[in-house]
Amino acid sequence: MKKPLFHSLPPAGHKIPLRLLFGCIGNRSQENRDRAIERIIRYLGGRKAFYLSSGRAALWLYLKALSIFKPERKEVIVPAYTCPSVVSAVFKAGLTPVLCDNNLDDFGYELREFENKLGRKTLAAIAVHLYGVPVRVDDIQELCRSNGAALVEDAAQAFGNSFLGEKDVKLGMKGDAGFYSFGRGKPVSILHGGLLVVTSDEVFREAGKIAQGLKTDNASVQYCLALSTYALFSNPTLYWIPQMIPFLNLGGTVFEPEFETSRGLSVAASFLETMLAGLEKEKEIRGTNSKWYSDNLSQACFRHIGLRGEYPYLRYPLIIDDRDLRACILEKLVAEGTGATGSYPTPLNQLPKLREVLADDTEYKCAKKIAESIVTLPVHSGVSAANRENIMSIIRQVLNAN
Ligand SMILES: Cc1ncc(COP(=O)(O)O)c(C=O)c1O
Repeated sequence: MKKPLFHSLPPAGHKIPLRLLFGCIGNRSQENRDRAIERIIRYLGGRKAFYLSSGRAALWLYLKALSIFKPERKEVIVPAYTCPSVVSAVFKAGLTPVLCDNNLDDFGYELREFENKLGRKTLAAIAVHLYGVPVRVDDIQELCRSNGAALVEDAAQAFGNSFLGEKDVKLGMKGDAGFYSFGRGKPVSILHGGLLVVTSDEVFREAGKIAQGLKTDNASVQYCLALSTYALFSNPTLYWIPQMIPFLNLGGTVFEPEFETSRGLSVAASFLETMLAGLEKEKEIRGTNSKWYSDNLSQACFRHIGLRGEYPYLRYPLIIDDRDLRACILEKLVAEGTGATGSYPTPLNQLPKLREVLADDTEYKCAKKIAESIVTLPVHSGVSAANRENIMSIIRQVLNAN
């Protein structure tokens, strides 16, 4: 299949129904906001929650509130391979991130190392459901409990997904806290917002006091215009334009120590609630596309994460152990605008800016391995059967040429 000129798929995303968005502009009252958040919580399976400006603001709020109860505990365990925003939130809460290697099965923790990192100073550990892959959190949770540390599930990339074999338990709902992001490239990608869910009444109360002191976002019109522009440029025929603009750094991984912590926009909360109606269909499509890659990319040089059945990954994580082959495949897939990405380029302790701040020269073997071998493939509802076939045929061409 020949690549159409100026055609590029986004790595993740979904249609943004602008009619529904503008319909939400009128829903800015506190009452509407509370009702929207209540419905979102009910969708997740109940719990006390806060809606904030971003996922990292949600994590920051939890860590700040939890610190009040255990001020002597200053460390937070973070996977060595993950999104750098997690570490920004830890620093902003006045705490110290302690990295721990990932495992290669579900990108969760390497358990023996995790056990060694847990100590009397550990306030919390963060389990990250990267690309929507469900991390088996039960062992981590048990270790945390016996240590007196809290388990936080980072479900920023996994809103709406469930634990394997536990259809009714959503990712983010097993830990002492969980958080979600609704930023760019997330399961519900509306450019704004983060949700924190908390188990403990006491921590919830303290978090409530902190949240009351936060500024309330109310730039609703600017938000709707920004989201409309995003919706326009997420179209495959136009997505190459923002990709060409260097300062947007689409797909780039940067550590930003500072970020805003405010109560989320009411119009975004309301829009999020209306987007729930289409989420199951989106998940079904992501599940079907994921299964297709799993069934069709069966060459011995590939490794697959998870059960290889239908599961709604946010992006399909394909592992190609041969570094040179992976580099060739990735380069070609990116050049052809297929929506494939190489994800985070290094473990956190080797990222520019973070390297100096973390000052940790440990070699995290699995984290390094993931960074060097992962290719994520798009599974969202904008991916057609022809797009998938194109991805497969590009991969075959590279394999045949090597
Ligand atoms: C795994 C993970 N955690 C946390 C975050 C932070 O979310 P936000 O960008 O809404 O602050 C992100 C967002 O990119 C993420 O991918």
